[in-house]
Amino acid sequence: MTREQAEKLRQENRRKRLRKKRIKAFSLLALFIVLAAAVLFFAVKGIAYLMTDGEDENTDNPIGTAGVVDSNTDESDGSSDADDENQPAASEEPEPTTEPTAEPVPTEEPASTTPVGTKPQQSWSTMLVNQWSYMPEGYVPDVREISYEGVSPLNNKFDVRAADALEKMLADARSAGYNMYLVSAYRSHDYQVSLFNRKVNEYKALGYDDATAYSEASQWVAIPGTSEHCTGLAADIVSSTWYNYNSDLTHDFEDTDHFDWLYEHCADYGFILRYPKGAEAITGITYEPWHYRFVGVDAAKYIMENHITLEEFCAE
Ligand code: DAL
Ligand code: ZN
Repeated sequence: MTREQAEKLRQENRRKRLRKKRIKAFSLLALFIVLAAAVLFFAVKGIAYLMTDGEDENTDNPIGTAGVVDSNTDESDGSSDADDENQPAASEEPEPTTEPTAEPVPTEEPASTTPVGTKPQQSWSTMLVNQWSYMPEGYVPDVREISYEGVSPLNNKFDVRAADALEKMLADARSAGYNMYLVSAYRSHDYQVSLFNRKVNEYKALGYDDATAYSEASQWVAIPGTSEHCTGLAADIVSSTWYNYNSDLTHDFEDTDHFDWLYEHCADYGFILRYPKGAEAITGITYEPWHYRFVGVDAAKYIMENHITLEEFCAE
């Protein structure tokens, strides 16, 4: 072999080694790229999987979907309806939207049962006296005679703090064409005892036993110690003409226009119809269309406008 040939052979070998090196480097590069691509692919897929995995949990959860869908979207959706049937929370949900919490639905009832206006404070004039609440022992009011033509001479006194109001009411009624008669105002305790005993005896005379006679009498004449007349704040008032024909107090006084005037105007003077019809169980006294009680103007208006009794007023 010549030197030239030997040189050629070396160069040829060198080229072969270089080619092999290139191929090897290219193969490594390709392998690296493939591996990197694979890693990138799985990494992206893994992230995508994790993200979609969370959403799938929600859609598989019937409680979650029912709660969201039913409250916000189409109720006609079949799957939602099915969920509604199986879930108390979902079936209860529509109700609050119809409740009058956000937008009160006006009804008749609250207007008729809610007291009109602000309740005035209680005072001496609203003192409650009935069969469950006796007058303070030894209480004797400061009274004076009522100045009015048409007063029973035996029972013509009234509490000095309310006498003006009673006189004005009687005078104004007369001016309006309604001539009243004041049958009974202040009564002493002894006088009430005599009235009560007389009533008990009337029942006994009809054949009632003592206990029944006492009980029956107490619905018409207050048991001594429980009569408002002894407070000096109660007045039995009827029309003069009517009283001339009926020397007793009877329910048919309510059929007169004098009663109408009193009922309509009494509160303006601080009086209430104390024993209304239908309130017997509350007051303990039978209906008395003639018995008016001074409670003060504010309390009287509140009681008459709300159609309540003094018992209810004091209990509020
Ligand atoms: N008639 C009423 C209740 C009274 O005697 O006081
Ligand atoms: Zn009376």
